[in-house]
Amino acid sequence: MNIHVKNNVAWVGKIDWELQKFHGNEYSTHRGSTYNSYLIKEEKNVLIDTVWKPYAKEYVENLKKEIDLNKIDFMVVNHAEIDHSGSLPELMSYIPDTPIYCTEYGIKTIKGHYHQNWNFHPVKTGDVLDIGNGKALVFVEMKMLHWPDSMASYLTGDNILFSNDAFGQHYATGYMFNDLVDQSELFAECIKYYANILTPFSPLVEKKIHEILALNLPIDIIATSHGVIWRDNPTQIVEKYLTWSRNYQENQITILYDTMWNGTKVMAENIALGIKKEDSMVNLKLFNISKTDKNDIITEVFKSKLILVGSPTIGKGITSATAGILEEIEGLKFKNKKACAFGCYGWSGESLSKINTLLEKSGFTLINEGIKCLWNPDNKSIENCKKFGAEIITSAL
Ligand code: FEO
Repeated sequence: MNIHVKNNVAWVGKIDWELQKFHGNEYSTHRGSTYNSYLIKEEKNVLIDTVWKPYAKEYVENLKKEIDLNKIDFMVVNHAEIDHSGSLPELMSYIPDTPIYCTEYGIKTIKGHYHQNWNFHPVKTGDVLDIGNGKALVFVEMKMLHWPDSMASYLTGDNILFSNDAFGQHYATGYMFNDLVDQSELFAECIKYYANILTPFSPLVEKKIHEILALNLPIDIIATSHGVIWRDNPTQIVEKYLTWSRNYQENQITILYDTMWNGTKVMAENIALGIKKEDSMVNLKLFNISKTDKNDIITEVFKSKLILVGSPTIGKGITSATAGILEEIEGLKFKNKKACAFGCYGWSGESLSKINTLLEKSGFTLINEGIKCLWNPDNKSIENCKKFGAEIITSAL
């Protein structure tokens, strides 16, 4: 199967409709994904990226229907992560001498994965590969967006930016173009992708986008490595990335809680009542950490100006689900967000101080010491929770 992209450029990737988890078990893909590979047929024939290893044989067999493999003049590996380079061993078994263009770090990474000494050609930002018919590929290093080896390739003449992971999303679709798909589904997957993968690199995202814009290259199409190809107003996703990279937040407060015997859940719901009473316009959301997909939670944290994290004290600490999400949050280096803690306890009540410590370590500004409740909340405790929620709005934001 191929999909015509523009002139002599075709998509030759794989739509993975059944994918539910990506990066092992680290990223939920509720809508599947795609691994986008592109074939450019000019005087020189170029293959840009491949697909994930489980689909290697299928991919190469399909590719044979598009081109005699021996007529591929160059391979470009924009990024060596396995979802894009995983079919290289199968493909290179047919054409072992074909030149592979990638960054210097890409060579190290490919060798690290496959232990092969293929015909590598390192490239740097601004390097140009002539492919004939007046067209060329211009390479742009994208270091740490999101791996050290990442780069983008720009096809002159057709004005296509092959951006690899950047501007992508895990979204299986038969349409493959941004103007054809459901826009709310598309942007939900885009922001989830940014929140969960790119947040720690936000300062680099802004810098790199300005660097690319300064090259003054006309961009008609952004051909990513996951999800849709942006052909209708392609820079709309670039503008979104600029917005998201600037310590993004909406008028949202998110309450995350875990609960053993519903006490901490009752606290969460009554704190929420207090918040809502004082501010009916704030977008208030509650999630049981144990019952909610962790990547969806991270997306909600990304959108929030304030998060409240609640856990009962278990042993001398917090529940494993709460510890798990706080570990995720710590690794993403959110900035300019506020937080506080709450939770029920029976005798010693360490959960508050533990959550506070972890939130502070993650860069959140604590708005107060939090609120805890001995045993199951009684009427007085419930009123205190409502008051606590209201005071967040009146004095802490
Ligand atoms: Fe889609 Fe970083 O791999």
